[in-house]
Amino acid sequence: MLVSDLTLDDVETIAALHLAAFPHSALSTLGEEAVRRHYRWQFEGPHDLTALGAFSDDVLVGFLLGGVFRGSTSGFVKRERWFLVGQVLRHPHVLAQTSGRRVAPVATRLLLRRSSTAPEQPSRVPAGSLGVLVVAVDPDVHRLGVGTSLLRAAEASARRDGFERMHLTLHPGNVPALSFYTDQGWRRLGLPGDDEHQWLLGKELGAAIDPGAPGSAR
Ligand SMILES: CC(C)(COP(=O)(O)OP(=O)(O)OC[C@H]1O[C@@H](n2cnc3c(N)ncnc32)[C@H](O)[C@@H]1OP(=O)(O)O)[C@@H](O)C(=O)NCCC(=O)NCCS
Repeated sequence: MLVSDLTLDDVETIAALHLAAFPHSALSTLGEEAVRRHYRWQFEGPHDLTALGAFSDDVLVGFLLGGVFRGSTSGFVKRERWFLVGQVLRHPHVLAQTSGRRVAPVATRLLLRRSSTAPEQPSRVPAGSLGVLVVAVDPDVHRLGVGTSLLRAAEASARRDGFERMHLTLHPGNVPALSFYTDQGWRRLGLPGDDEHQWLLGKELGAAIDPGAPGSAR
């Protein structure tokens, strides 16, 4: 298995993998095109993006998107406002889903047109920290170390870029993912912004090592 950088050209396969890994997420419920546009925004928006893919025989089997995001959701909503309004009208049940909690504020912003591409809410972003937006692995190859390889590569890349720590938010009901992160030394931070539905997890990166780690060009 090879871990290497992803580009905008990989959006189709990233979206397909997202649908397989998160079949019931609010975004998936809005349809494949919504998923594609969401990832296109992560590549094209004003973020400092780290996009890593795990390839087995040239097939994408997992990906990780991290970075310093400036409106990973709100900027997407602003850019795709009318497309998303149409999708929400077509799939109104998404607003009632538990996993649709993130869609409700999104829908509100759609109506109020208050979206922005400002940096993510400061209270949720520890200083000197690289955020992880998503890690997803093809369900056919779970528990084979693909996710671990991606996270290690992202940590090595963050260290090389001078970040001291990493963070992400996670619904604690996602037990496999919680176990996955805690297994690799991530802990709940208990900082402002953390609540019972979205835990803020983090990891101190420590000294720079591993100069030859993956995460460079494919
Ligand atoms: C979470 C996820 C990325 C893990 O990827 P993976 O490649 O299967 O993980 P690994 O094989 O590297 O697992 C490493 C360790 O994490 C823990 N772990 C991973 N999956 C687990 C599960 N389903 N149940 C319990 N522990 C799990 C284990 O400690 C595992 O080590 P072990 O297999 O030796 O016991 C994958 O399950 C996934 O894509 N889930 C759906 C998307 C998601 O929820 N992403 C995270 C939120 S963004």
